[in-house]
Amino acid sequence: MHERKNEHYYQKAKQEGYRSRASYKLKQLNDEYHFFKNTKKVLDLGAAPGGWLQVASEALNNEGLVIGVDLKEIEPLEMDNIETIQGDATDPEVQNEILERFNGKVDLILSDMAPNVTGIWEVDDLRQIYLARIALVIADKLLKTDGWMVVKVFMGPEHESFIQDMRNVFEKLFIVKPKASRKSSAEIYLVAKNLKPKRILPSDFNKNIEEVILDEEDEGPIPGDQLPFIEEKKITKQVH
Ligand SMILES: C[S@@+](CC[C@H](N)C(=O)[O-])C[C@H]1O[C@@H](n2cnc3c(N)ncnc32)[C@H](O)[C@@H]1O
Repeated sequence: MHERKNEHYYQKAKQEGYRSRASYKLKQLNDEYHFFKNTKKVLDLGAAPGGWLQVASEALNNEGLVIGVDLKEIEPLEMDNIETIQGDATDPEVQNEILERFNGKVDLILSDMAPNVTGIWEVDDLRQIYLARIALVIADKLLKTDGWMVVKVFMGPEHESFIQDMRNVFEKLFIVKPKASRKSSAEIYLVAKNLKPKRILPSDFNKNIEEVILDEEDEGPIPGDQLPFIEEKKITKQVH
């Protein structure tokens, strides 16, 4: 049944010209929270192949500016309001380029960043949350006070502390599982709004992740999209 659902969004994306089935996750989240309303500038972290960029560009009526950043090259898109940067979002030089290109604060920051999975759960979890924390630190610098942030996390051992990090920075936080996200996937999305005037940023989170794995036993590969530890009761809502 899950396979059929996955197939459904995969086919739909192909038919409707979206580069990824992930496009529908963002659409469903926006249908619920309307974060594209009055939005002119959007940063999309982990943007390849470009499904979210397409959705954001359309939502802005091909106006404003949407900048997508990814380690991978993003094949050019037709829309005039999209720019891309090929680079590592954790790299301060890339972060400076993002700030310079926007030349001012943005309304919305999206992060669908996910690491290449090693199959070692503790490592994949830490890497995922590390990327989410980087996105949060960028949001602190770049987001308007009344802006929105949407960030993907895997529900692993680290996600609770990241949710607390988000609560320390934003006034409002929703924990959401869009319908287009596989049920078997441990991914959830945090949708946040309004920066707190006095916010506490996560610090000292740049641990040497490689060190963590040395003591861990490899329990075999876990596909990135099927990580364990789904705690459905913690999800604020499922959006359709
Ligand atoms: C799930 S995909 C994003 C899909 C995208 N939202 C879409 O709709 O097409 C996750 C992306 O995160 C990117 N990524 C992972 N680590 C990154 C980093 N440090 N900096 C920038 N992008 C990164 C990966 O290269 C990958 O393309």
